[in-house]
Amino acid sequence: MTERIPSGEHPRTPSLPQRPEPQPELPPSPTGERSPTRPIALGFTVSMAASIGLGVVYALGGQVQLEGLLLFFALGGIAVGFIVWGGKLLPQGPYTQERHPLSSGEEEQEEATEALEEGAESLERRRLLIRLLTGAFVALGAALVFPVRSLGERPGGSLFRTAWRRGSRVVDENGRPVRPGDLDVGGVLTVFPAGNTDAADSQTLLIKLASGQYKPRRGRENWAVDDVVAFSKVCTHAGCPVGLYEPDAHRLFCPCHQSVFAVLDGCEPRSGPATRPLPQLPLAVDGEGYLVALGDYPEPIGPGFWNRDR
Ligand code: FES
Repeated sequence: MTERIPSGEHPRTPSLPQRPEPQPELPPSPTGERSPTRPIALGFTVSMAASIGLGVVYALGGQVQLEGLLLFFALGGIAVGFIVWGGKLLPQGPYTQERHPLSSGEEEQEEATEALEEGAESLERRRLLIRLLTGAFVALGAALVFPVRSLGERPGGSLFRTAWRRGSRVVDENGRPVRPGDLDVGGVLTVFPAGNTDAADSQTLLIKLASGQYKPRRGRENWAVDDVVAFSKVCTHAGCPVGLYEPDAHRLFCPCHQSVFAVLDGCEPRSGPATRPLPQLPLAVDGEGYLVALGDYPEPIGPGFWNRDR
């Protein structure tokens, strides 16, 4: 006799025993072995302590050897922690699993309970280690920020000014005032503003040209006195003193990287790495016939960080 199936229902299929999904075998339980948590936690703790010590030593004035040692422990502690963590706590695999009977006996149920409890332990352990690792990184990062103080004070406007002022008397390195007639044609002299002979950024080259050689740029017609012109001695490439003058070719040389500046053309660079002309100092004479400055350089002296587009 044939079984009748009510309309709208599918024929029932006899249920088959389900195959278990293959499960990866858990790494061997650490039970009975020395727990790896301790050396990992120790490594991170040592790193944290060393980083804090590094900050303290730096704040107290610094001591290079000690700072190096503390930095070694700060980085080494994290490295040891990672190595032990990777070697002992992470699964080393590959793992295979034999098929086993489908039913769960009493023994397997106990094993599952143990595995669950062990998992809860490892979760706790992971939380602790991650907190320690975060602490080690935060302490190390904070310690590494301290040396920013060693970059020194902010330069402020000092890069845009020198010691030259309107009326500053022009003196040689011994502080003696200079007259235009003190130089012969083709002569060159390093000068400073009076009272500032140690101001490296103010060192200036006085150059005596032959009569009629000076062809001033527009707006600089009155910046020379009796064919004496003045240019900054600080190279616009990297700040070396431009000390060599070739009078026949009217060229100044920088000995550091061989930049060449054309004096008759406003000290424009002709070759070498410098890209800006040497700034010119406007000159005049005072009532006693000594050279004075009409003011500071009209543009910053030295390396041209402010003028990179040239
Ligand atoms: S500093 Fe003068 S060429 Fe480099």
